[in-house]
Amino acid sequence: MTDVKPVNLPSDQNATGRSFGAEELELLRKVIDSGTLNCTKGTVVREFENRFAKLIGSTSCRTTTSGTAAIHAAVASVNPEPGDEIITTPITDMGGITPILYQTAIPVFADCDPLTYNVTAETIAKKITKRTKAIMVTHLFGNPCDMDPIMELASAKGLPVLEDCAQAYGTTYKGKHVGTIGAIGAFSLQQGKHMTTGEGGCVVTSDPAHERRMRLFIDKAWGYGDPNPDHYFLAMNYRMTELQGAVALAQLEKLDAMVAHRIAMADRLTAAISDVRGVAVPKVTPGGRHTYWKYCVRVDPKVIKGGSVGFGDALKPLGVMSAPRYIQKLAFECEVLRDHRTFGKSEFPYKGPHRAGDPPVVYDKAEYPGSTEALADVVVLPWNEKYTTDHVDAIAAIIRKAAADLAIG
Ligand SMILES: Cc1ncc(COP(=O)(O)O)c(C=O)c1O
Repeated sequence: MTDVKPVNLPSDQNATGRSFGAEELELLRKVIDSGTLNCTKGTVVREFENRFAKLIGSTSCRTTTSGTAAIHAAVASVNPEPGDEIITTPITDMGGITPILYQTAIPVFADCDPLTYNVTAETIAKKITKRTKAIMVTHLFGNPCDMDPIMELASAKGLPVLEDCAQAYGTTYKGKHVGTIGAIGAFSLQQGKHMTTGEGGCVVTSDPAHERRMRLFIDKAWGYGDPNPDHYFLAMNYRMTELQGAVALAQLEKLDAMVAHRIAMADRLTAAISDVRGVAVPKVTPGGRHTYWKYCVRVDPKVIKGGSVGFGDALKPLGVMSAPRYIQKLAFECEVLRDHRTFGKSEFPYKGPHRAGDPPVVYDKAEYPGSTEALADVVVLPWNEKYTTDHVDAIAAIIRKAAADLAIG
């Protein structure tokens, strides 16, 4: 094999891999000049919300301070009773899970498909009980869940579907944007996402009842504009500032191009490494448009010495800082969920009279063969819209070399 040189890749943690420029600065200046940094009086956040909703084909969008806050608003909107259950995925960011507990519901986990890393209708169905209040699906890495069977199941059971789209800007399933298929979609605008305001998020819905409840939840449940406003229910202040709104609005103009470029570069890498033994390219959900928040390969430990970790170690000195095993362990293996570290020593909502007569929710790793395999084998490659064809060709050469160096037999 010819000599493979290290690559210096753009990073989404700084200007090398982010698309900020004159457009953001101009809108920021306008906001500063206006003297209004608060979205309740300003116009920029509202403009972003309107445009984002329109772009993805929803009737409403409301911004939040983070993706976690967006998930919180979505969960609050289905208003679980204490001890109700919400089915979700064990392969996700903890910000997609803890809001369930804050809203007094218990996260219950469906297994993931080891090839797409997403939950399926089949694995969700196994976890539905009489306490199930909602289903939350996460379109991991920008690849959509197989939504038709999930929506069919949910509608047969009368359950709302919440879509965690934190990693899935521009992702579609059978032509529809994710976030508009279920009852509510939640997005993150955190530093490393397709588009960003540093921190931030938003929720979308076309259901007027969810729109109202989330709008209220994000703003202390004060009924602005109502004839007799009051604080109607327990709620937070998750309002985004106009400064974030300015950046969000400028970023939105660039989103289509950023997504298209990520896909084009990912397709190039897929074509270049498809024949590499022991390294499987991403499986795109049939009918889906994968927008590559990250580019994941699956490493076969029977073919590659050291499996995913060995492979990640081999990429590192050549400049590809991957994340073998993604979040390292399944979400319910983390202390907060494993040990029920919630409110004081109560173990609420796992324990208490509100669960009388209900079997305990037990997290048993043996029930998650797909998720366990998925995490064991995945190597998450960093990805962003500033990659050039040279970067991608260099990554391909590095992957090929690592696979050859580590090949068993
Ligand atoms: C799938 C998923 N859900 C939720 C979140 C939480 O978003 P944030 O970090 O903006 O609170 C993230 C982000 O990091 C995520 O990747």
